[in-house]
Amino acid sequence: TRVLGIEGTAWNFSAAVFDEDLVCLESSPYVPPHGGIHPREAAQHHAAVAADVIGKVLEKAGDDIDAVAFSIGPGLGPSLRTAATAARSLALKFGVPLIGVNHCVAHVEIGRWYTKFSDPIVLYASGANTQVLGFLNGRYRIFGETLDIGLGNALDKFARSHDLPHPGGPIIEEMAKKGSYIPLPYTVKGMDLAFSGLMSAAKEATARGESMEDVCFSFQETAFAMCVEVTERALAHTGKDEVILVGGVGANSRLQEMLRLMCEERGARFMAPPRVYMGDNGAMIAYTGKIMLEAGSTISVADSVVNPGFRSDQVEVTWRSDAGE
Ligand code: ATP
Ligand code: FE2
Repeated sequence: TRVLGIEGTAWNFSAAVFDEDLVCLESSPYVPPHGGIHPREAAQHHAAVAADVIGKVLEKAGDDIDAVAFSIGPGLGPSLRTAATAARSLALKFGVPLIGVNHCVAHVEIGRWYTKFSDPIVLYASGANTQVLGFLNGRYRIFGETLDIGLGNALDKFARSHDLPHPGGPIIEEMAKKGSYIPLPYTVKGMDLAFSGLMSAAKEATARGESMEDVCFSFQETAFAMCVEVTERALAHTGKDEVILVGGVGANSRLQEMLRLMCEERGARFMAPPRVYMGDNGAMIAYTGKIMLEAGSTISVADSVVNPGFRSDQVEVTWRSDAGE
């Protein structure tokens, strides 16, 4: 089966076709002229580029499509609605089923596809989300998550407060390479995390004259150590022995290194997919749509209302037969 996937929850409008493997992938990122991502402007960007991005993908893959999948949530309302409208009209045009994919679950599934890990603990660290997940009794359970903002948003906000362009994550990674450690608040509550206090403390540190290099380094070390601690505890509690890293922040080499070290010490296997599959992309929606289609998880147009607050653990995982115990 051949599935067209459309992603447009936030900054990237992206489409892909997945068959036995990825057939093609096209993306058009929205880059805010200044400041962070404005939901309405991102949606206008998506509407402006949709026909071009989808057109390129269909030109390469052909019109022989078995289903159309799209990100139904979570994400920014206006962006979600724009992508959903495109998906509905294509499903009607081709006369094929529609599949509403949970964006977070799609990050997980493309990671599992690439790594071929069957039952990993997943650290999903992106702009709006930071979660530690694992499959248990038919669902991706959230073992721990951020109680305030996502790690990527914390990095982006800190960067923006220093007039650095969006997204700030990759710039901070570069600056951190020359830094050394200064203490910043480390917040893990049970299995949950919080980043906004850390972000404020980082701003205060530069305001009192600490160098950007040192603050960026320490911000990363502190935030990543928090994520690694919760991931390690999830491994210990569940007895699983594989870890994958997904989401835009997963592109960070230092975070990958810290997770790899933790896994080596515990005798667990660690893998991260390449950058194209880390941040938001249409391939993860096309692939998850394909495995959902094969499990019969399609929706009617009437039921395809977007859900900006859709949680990973609300999805009934019909496509995995293992108990995940
Ligand atoms: P979600 O809806 O899943 O929360 P998102 O819309 O935030 O996703 P992603 O592409 O998954 O989008 O993640 C984007 C985030 O990744 C941004 O906050 C960006 O700063 C961060 N990021 C990208 N590259 C790096 C890097 N090298 N180091 C740290 N953070 C990074
Ligand atoms: Fe994402």
